[in-house]
Amino acid sequence: MIRRMNSRPAYLDYQATTPVDLRVRDAMLPYLGEHFGNPHSINHAYGWQAADAVKIARGQVAEFIGADDDEIVFTSGATESCNLALRGAAKASTSGRNRVITVATEHPAVLETARDLGCAGHEVIILPVGEDGLLDLADLERTLDGRTVLVSIMAANNEIGVLQPLAEIARLCRASGALFHTDATQAAGRIGIDVDSWDVDLLSLSAHKVYGPKGIGTLYVRNGVPVQPVVTGGGQEHGLRPGTVPAPLVVGFGRACQVASEQLGEDAGRMSQLTMRLKHGIQRTCPSVRFFGHPEQRLPGNLSMGFPGVSADEVIELVSNRIAISTGSACSSGTAEPSKVLLALGLDPETAATGVRISLGRFTIEGDIDTAVEALSDVAAIASRA
Ligand SMILES: Cc1ncc(COP(=O)(O)O)c(C=O)c1O
Repeated sequence: MIRRMNSRPAYLDYQATTPVDLRVRDAMLPYLGEHFGNPHSINHAYGWQAADAVKIARGQVAEFIGADDDEIVFTSGATESCNLALRGAAKASTSGRNRVITVATEHPAVLETARDLGCAGHEVIILPVGEDGLLDLADLERTLDGRTVLVSIMAANNEIGVLQPLAEIARLCRASGALFHTDATQAAGRIGIDVDSWDVDLLSLSAHKVYGPKGIGTLYVRNGVPVQPVVTGGGQEHGLRPGTVPAPLVVGFGRACQVASEQLGEDAGRMSQLTMRLKHGIQRTCPSVRFFGHPEQRLPGNLSMGFPGVSADEVIELVSNRIAISTGSACSSGTAEPSKVLLALGLDPETAATGVRISLGRFTIEGDIDTAVEALSDVAAIASRA
């Protein structure tokens, strides 16, 4: 058994963020040093060099999701991408379509943006999910009509790892003439992404979930899809996202996508295997543990669970010197509220307050899993007394 020789807890929170892969860091370093040019400086070699690097990276990101290079709009991350998708598509709607549809388990990047559009006069429909976290397609079909401008449904959930049926959702959107955006932030590097087979119009990604740097992401905009900018300035990124493109971050993002494409099978296979080891280990030491989200339609590397009678905060406190795990999403953890995602599954607030997320990634080793099982067996002892 491999054991870590340092004193830091084993990192099992890869859905919050991932460490920058050394191959990514090495690709970025020259652009933080001697190749510092502005990629929009067209008059000299410094600019040309940065522009060339951005062009290559744009191709790498595009290839990662099966897009064309000119369909990639660099942003500061998935939050901004989701904002641009929802606000930009709503703003561009000229056909009287005013309705935006999403689901209750979305990340706040989508949910709060939709709510804000609602305050600005759009009709916003937030669909429920079943107890397995899946959207009911019949609900969507009933809600979709000629008034809908955009449907935004995430590919993979950040807390419970559930995968939504994107191809079926896309079919319903096409039939009603609505645009379809998916937040694929958590899918990247865990399952293959293909904008054509998924048949999406807009797709959001973030580099820091796929072993790239923080502060860079993309919105994929299918050619011909009407989107208006939400920030004004110079004409960068086809006018959709003005501002100087951060060449070092873009280079890192491109390399991260390239590495993720090359390693997808290996990464996903290892994550699935280690997840099963973890799940079985936890079940062995704590038979009363409850796992949340659909049992099969889910991301490799995610487990969402609750130990009956033990709040998530207590779990974290008990294990934090051995493993780094979280209570739901990084953005909402730190609030004492039970997870909105777990409440949306229909769990009572007490059960929802037990929810913890463990997420594995490229650098997780068997020793981390064994450490987690051992640490969580202390929680199991409390759960059995509860
Ligand atoms: C599903 C999902 N969407 C959007 C975001 C926001 O990404 P970023 O940190 O790049 O703004 C996250 C990050 O946790 C996420 O998990």
